[in-house]
Amino acid sequence: MIIGDRIYLRAVEVEDLDLCWRWVNDPEVTRYMLLGGWPISRLAEREWLERAARGTGDRDRQMAVCLRGSDRHIGNCGLHQISWRSGTADLGIVIGEKDCWDQGCGRDAVRTVLRHAFREMSLRKVTLSVLALNHRAIRCYEQCGFAVEGILRGQHLVDGLHVDEVRMAVFAPGR
Ligand SMILES: CC(C)(COP(=O)(O)OP(=O)(O)OC[C@H]1O[C@@H](n2cnc3c(N)ncnc32)[C@H](O)[C@@H]1OP(=O)(O)O)[C@@H](O)C(=O)NCCC(=O)NCCS
Repeated sequence: MIIGDRIYLRAVEVEDLDLCWRWVNDPEVTRYMLLGGWPISRLAEREWLERAARGTGDRDRQMAVCLRGSDRHIGNCGLHQISWRSGTADLGIVIGEKDCWDQGCGRDAVRTVLRHAFREMSLRKVTLSVLALNHRAIRCYEQCGFAVEGILRGQHLVDGLHVDEVRMAVFAPGR
């Protein structure tokens, strides 16, 4: 378990299927996510969870975000495309329980992952991609120290419009 202020991170389990399947098929949750825009079957989500729970090798770490106190599972986050040689990884997060949005849970989860990435995994830099329309996410990431590194113009189609992808990154303190 990795403990944050209001949340903690634990391994994902196959028993998380019902919640995760609901989240990935909730249009409000996925609206600005780079998932491909297709409904996701229970089988596909189960297979994803099984892979994540088994551990997908050295390059990916997936974790469940839970509230301290109640143990309520409210989302998932992970580090992907970990490069041990370069000391880099790409961060992904979803807070699937919408009643938890805008209460600092995302910020707490991202800060907790970053602390772990920098202090326990010796990573040097964490990057992410976010749609330019995803103002809530960008605000959350900025508050965690991420800065914009570049813009991929018109990279994604959302609601019939081509929108920019923003690449952001944060460095470990002193690196
Ligand atoms: C993006 C996400 C992880 C953020 O988590 P969260 O717990 O809602 O975020 P936080 O409460 O920590 O921070 C959000 C901040 O954005 C602000 N915000 C909300 N809507 C906003 C908007 N339209 N414009 C600007 N800021 C906004 C909030 O007020 C808050 O800032 P504050 O604490 O200074 O008031 C979460 O909402 C989520 O998973 N959304 C759906 C999936 C998704 O978009 N994932 C990210 C893909 S890159």
